[in-house]
Parts: sequence; structure tokens; C-alpha cells
Amino acid sequence: MNLLQKKSITHLLTQKKTLQKTLGAYDLILLGIGAIVGIGILVLTGVAAANDAGPSIIFSFMLAALVCGFVAFCYAEIASTLPVSGGVYTYAYVTIGEVVAYLMGWTQLLIYVLSVAAVANGWSAYFRSLLEGFHVHIPKMLSAVPQQGGMVNLPAVCIILLMTWVLSKGVQESKKVNNTMVAIKLSIILLFIIIGIFYVQPENWDPFMPFGWKGVLAGTATVFFAFLGFDAVATAAEEVKKPQRDLPIGIIVSLGVCTLLYVIVCLVLTGMVPYHLLNVSDAMAFALHAVGQNFAAGVISVGALAGITTVIFVYLYATVRVLFSMSRDRLLPKPFSVVHSQSQAPVFSTWIAGLTGAAIAGFIDLRALSNLVNIGALLTFVMVALSVIVLRKTHPNLQRGFKAPLVPYLPILTIACCVFLMTRLALEAWLYFCIWMMIGLSIYFIYRTKRQKDSSQEQADMMKKAN
Ligand code: ALA
Repeated sequence: MNLLQKKSITHLLTQKKTLQKTLGAYDLILLGIGAIVGIGILVLTGVAAANDAGPSIIFSFMLAALVCGFVAFCYAEIASTLPVSGGVYTYAYVTIGEVVAYLMGWTQLLIYVLSVAAVANGWSAYFRSLLEGFHVHIPKMLSAVPQQGGMVNLPAVCIILLMTWVLSKGVQESKKVNNTMVAIKLSIILLFIIIGIFYVQPENWDPFMPFGWKGVLAGTATVFFAFLGFDAVATAAEEVKKPQRDLPIGIIVSLGVCTLLYVIVCLVLTGMVPYHLLNVSDAMAFALHAVGQNFAAGVISVGALAGITTVIFVYLYATVRVLFSMSRDRLLPKPFSVVHSQSQAPVFSTWIAGLTGAAIAGFIDLRALSNLVNIGALLTFVMVALSVIVLRKTHPNLQRGFKAPLVPYLPILTIACCVFLMTRLALEAWLYFCIWMMIGLSIYFIYRTKRQKDSSQEQADMMKKAN
């Protein structure tokens, strides 16, 4: 069997669809914002401003948005050309071949499961801040990971297990719930801007670039996480009424709205409090407490909890989806795609994803996690840009709902930017990433050998029966 065996596009586009087409452009924009706005803006902004870039963190956000914008154009083209589920895993299967598709699926698993853990860490920070508002203190032992002097981050573990339980019951995230959560998220961000703007002291912006461009670039690599999620829009492709028109709108508009909000939030945040004080996990609530707006800080914490919960839910769901589709393609063991007869949920995959996420969230440091996610995400973006170039060459006449401008220059620029940002990330994260890929490759080869044996066995059995 060929390592670079490809999936046929004709087969892909004509396969029997099982998902109902209910989503329009508006839903996709909300879906995108729902997946994008999370701990990136609510948690990492403060950490990155304090450690990397100071007030010039807004440049970091702008640069990250620019790169994501390039990626979004590529995504828009490929998603409107191949409107089927599976995301990067499927694109790689069509354009490059099986082993690369496997590694992309494996990388997606890493991104999603670590995002669940990282986002749950942020959830935990806001939860603690909220309880502190009521003078309830969770001991550090039970609310911090070992690297931060605790034993386990129990709130993070609990929220993941709760969401896993909900998912295992087969509860689907409905459009209505998602839209409500997006409304809550957007409201708290607007509330922060409206109140915070009155407490901005321009002297806090001086020095604006305390760590120079080096800091801005380091910040860009860190806050990249804040933009992840626009790619989730592409995974909804099969459920979109007019995918060729609406997918590009959903991807590009959701990214645009979030960029605008992020830049304003950063300006207000670093204007309210000296940047070096922002090394906290709940920067927006912290800044409001610092200026005496305790009630607003409480409201923001509650809203953030609700908003972050949906990100955990979506990413957990996405993890299960990838496990499920890889197993259905026989690239992972069968139990991962077994659906429970009553709940119709892939219960085994769900609990494996949830327990893994909970274990990571409970014991590993947030910053190391987010950098690892960034490496994986940047790699999948490289793959998306590459797929655009390859597909234009191999299938020039395919119907494309949206055509990225300046191909191949734009995808090449996208790849260059992503690779550059990848080189900015900590060596430690790279080491973990390489270990992850090695594990993936080993599983692939073990499983591939097993699959070949099974196929030979099946053939032998069929021959026996025929005789
Ligand atoms: N963009 C998402 C967040 O910031 C992953 O939580």
C-alpha cells in the first residue's frame, strides 16, 4: 500500500451526505466568533503584554491578524472548493497523500486537545477570580499546576469532565445556544471597552515598545492562539446551505470583527494598568478591579466563564470529530468510531479526548501549552496554503466558490509567515511537538501493518468462502 495514496476528489464530492444543510453566512460568522473569542483575549493578552511586548502588544495582534488574514483567504478557497468535513486532514488526503493526512489529523488532535486544556486553564482563572469576589478562596494546592507551586488545577479538570459528560450524552451544540453565548461574549468585551476607556491613562503607554520589535514578534507568536477558531468555520462545510458563497464570508468576516475588538481591548487594557502588572490569567477582570470597578469585574468574570465554556465544548467536539473520522478511514482503531446505540455519540472517543484533556489541564503549565498549540496550528495553516497551490495545479478546472487572490504568491507568503512565526516559538515547545509527531508516526506504522494484515486476512477468508 502506498504511503502517499490519495483520496479521490470525485469520490469525496459525490459521497452520500448525512448532515442537514442549515447554516447561512450569518450563522457562520457567529460560529467563527464563538470559536475565536476565548482565552486568547481574556487570558493570554495580559501574560503576553507583561512578558513579551508591553503596550505594543497591539502590534503583535495586528501582525497575527495579518497572517491569519492570508490564511483565511487560502482557507476560504479550499473550503469552498472541497465543502466536506475533516478540514486539513481531508485537504492533505486529497492533495498530498495518506501519511501526511495522518500527521495532519494527528496534529489537529494535538491542537484541539491542548486547546481544551489551555482554555480550561483560563476558565479556572476566571472561576477563582469570581469566587474571590465572594471571599471564597480555593487553596493554591488545588487550583494550580505543579510548575506554579500547586498540585492540580481542579476547576480546570472539573469543567472538562463536565463538558465530556455532556458530550457523551449526545448533546449537540445547537445554533441557538451558540448564538446566545456569542452574544454574551461580545457584550462583556464591549462592556470592558466602554467602562475601561474612562480609566485609560496615556502615561501607561510609555514606553510603548519596552522590548522592541523582538518583543512584538514574540508576542505575535503567543497571541496567535487568540485567532484560532476561524478555521472551525471550514469544518462546518457540509452543513452550509450555500458553501461556495457563505464559507468565505463566514471565515473572513469573523476574523475581521475579532481583530477589531482585540486591538481596542489591548489599547484599553494597557492604558488602564501598567503593563508589567498584567502577568495574571484574568487580565480584564484584574484591570477593572485595579480601578475599583469590582461589580463590572464580577460581570465580566461570569460572562467570561460562559463564553470560555463554549470554546471548551467546541474544541472537545472537534477532537472527537477528528478521532472519529480518522478511525472511520481506518487510520485509528475501530472503537474510536463506534457510536453508542442510544445517545448516538462516539462515547469511547469522547471519554478518551476528555480524560486526556483533563489530565493535561490538571498538571501542565498554560504557557507551554499555548505555544505547542501555536506550532501545530501554524503547521496546519502551511498545509492549507500548500493545498491551494497543489489543487490549482492538479485540478485547475474544479469549481471554486472563492478564489484567493495572487496565487501562488499569497499562499507562498502565507507559508513563509507561518514558518517564520514557528521559528519564534520556544525550543521547549518544539521538543514536545517533535515527540508528539514521533508517537504519531509510530502509531501510524503499527496500525498500518495491522491494517495490511487484516486486509490480507479478509481477502484470504473471502477466497476460502468463494472456493
Ligand atoms: N481563539 C481561541 C481562544 O482564544 C482558541 O480561546
